[in-house]
Amino acid sequence: MPEPVIELEGVSLCYRLAKQRIPSFKEYALHWVRGALTYEQLWALRDVTLRVDRGETLGIVGRNGAGKSTLLKVISRVLVPTRGRCLVRGRVAPILELGTGFDYELTGRENVFLNALLLGHSRRSIEERYDAIVDFSGLGDFIRSPVRNYSSGMLARLAFSILTAWTPDVLVLDEFLAVGDVHFLRKCEERLDALKAAGTTMLLVSHMAEAIRTHCRRCVWLDGGRLVADGTPDDVLERYAGANGPPAVTPAPVF
Ligand SMILES: Nc1ncnc2c1ncn2[C@@H]1O[C@H](COP(=O)(O)OP(=O)(O)OP(=O)(O)O)[C@@H](O)[C@H]1O
Ligand SMILES: [Mg+2]
Repeated sequence: MPEPVIELEGVSLCYRLAKQRIPSFKEYALHWVRGALTYEQLWALRDVTLRVDRGETLGIVGRNGAGKSTLLKVISRVLVPTRGRCLVRGRVAPILELGTGFDYELTGRENVFLNALLLGHSRRSIEERYDAIVDFSGLGDFIRSPVRNYSSGMLARLAFSILTAWTPDVLVLDEFLAVGDVHFLRKCEERLDALKAAGTTMLLVSHMAEAIRTHCRRCVWLDGGRLVADGTPDDVLERYAGANGPPAVTPAPVF
């Protein structure tokens, strides 16, 4: 019997956006005192029910604004669902927006420690793997520069090298494969294969159908915050490519 690692039941997530542009904390306080703060609601996820078993590789596709990154943030425990239940068993290693988890004023080396400590690894375990992390990243002497000097590809290299130096229970990659150069991607593919073989569950958001076909055995399609298809990558990608009805972005917010 396969073991569920991720279980979402009726998950909805509502972003609350202030309607006014409030430039300072003082203005905010004045609006608050007058009771003049008004918000709009944007439901980025609507009643999503999903189960992912240990070792599964799941691709997630959908148009811009469909809710893919929001879903990954809920699974990575960055956002708490407004409604419903999200249960994830084990250690999650997420690459969400580039640069998340890094302090831009610290060097690459310091960020290796910061990031890995935040992921729950001990200082000793990080020291043991530090050389291998830097070596895999290919950053060379740049590891001693502040991260603010890094290109987006370099940030991606560092993040991936840190997260995959250990074997996470769940690896979450949001548009990651679009940033690295071919040399790094080749190394990443080997490492992803090794993690899959070790039983890591993988969630991959990508606009590149080929990446989903190569890495995933299963694919879901999100549209307007709802799961509209779940099946093999070939089936789901074909339906997704053929769809022209729904709007490109989430329906306008409800005031
Ligand atoms: N921090 C936020 N605050 C308010 N609204 C947000 C926030 N992040 C996302 N949204 C809204 O939630 C909806 C879903 O966004 P999300 O980033 O999950 O989409 P996505 O499927 O990842 O899109 P893309 O393919 O462009 O990355 C969008 O309508 C977006 O405007
Ligand atoms: Mg996104």
